[in-house]
Amino acid sequence: MSVTNFPGGQSSASTGIPITKVTIPALAEMKRQGKPISALTAYDYSSSRLADEAGIDLVLVGDSLAMVVLGHDNTLAVTVDEMLHHTRAVRRAVRRALVVADMPFGSYHGTGLAGAAEGLANAVRFVKEAGAEAVKIEGPRVELARALTEAEIPVIGHLGLTPQSLHRMGGYRVQARTAETARRLKHDALALADAGAGAVVLEGVPREVAAEITAELPIPTIGIGAGPDCDGQILVFHDLLNLTFAPPAKFVRRYADVGGLIRSAIERYREDVQHRAFPSDEESYHLPEPARKTMAAAHKTSELRKA
Ligand code: KIV
Repeated sequence: MSVTNFPGGQSSASTGIPITKVTIPALAEMKRQGKPISALTAYDYSSSRLADEAGIDLVLVGDSLAMVVLGHDNTLAVTVDEMLHHTRAVRRAVRRALVVADMPFGSYHGTGLAGAAEGLANAVRFVKEAGAEAVKIEGPRVELARALTEAEIPVIGHLGLTPQSLHRMGGYRVQARTAETARRLKHDALALADAGAGAVVLEGVPREVAAEITAELPIPTIGIGAGPDCDGQILVFHDLLNLTFAPPAKFVRRYADVGGLIRSAIERYREDVQHRAFPSDEESYHLPEPARKTMAAAHKTSELRKA
């Protein structure tokens, strides 16, 4: 049993930040006011509740969960049903932040009318069955962005290093490193904005390119490995806290060694169990006095009978 109810009141338990729901228009307003957008991935109830209570503006249920939660080598294997399962948990936890769900590989990649219909149908599931407030799609899928927007589903684009294109890119490589590819990236970002996207994640692109796109785009850019000039920043929860098992990418800043903390706590617990130091008498339940006396008397009687 664990208590998960929300404390009452209108401000976050830990920061006292007033709870004013973050929406897609609110992100646009933040860009207009030059207020940086803080975004973080999260995949379950406790982590997303902590992110929300810490005042994070946008919680992304990223398909990176395929790697950091489910242990796959890349993001390609995660399914719509798995993403829905995690999005529901996040939805139950988050009160203030915008909840965005990643559409997984294969759920929106079909071409033509049938492909768009499938992408739309899957996006509807994220809103209807899991409570997502926006979905994120990778690549310059402008027609799908338009269709989602027309269907009242806010959409966030993701350009640059798009992990679902791993095999086409030949690895996780910084993108838009030439004038021509930078021009194309800017063109794609503008096209997504024109199709109604509410924001664009820019991943793994040179700072200069991200800065120029940010300056020219009417919607917010949220960077990851794209330098400090984007309208917002996003990191993977497990990277930020050192809950991963590989050296971090250049753009990751580790704010805590939670992996180390967990490892040492679990080791101490194991040692206590092995030395019978856990649980103590204080950590045990006890019979009320009358029941204890009755039991003791019954025990004594049975011992006398045996003798
Ligand atoms: O899945 C994910 O974590 C992402 C972020 C890296 C933006 O898409």
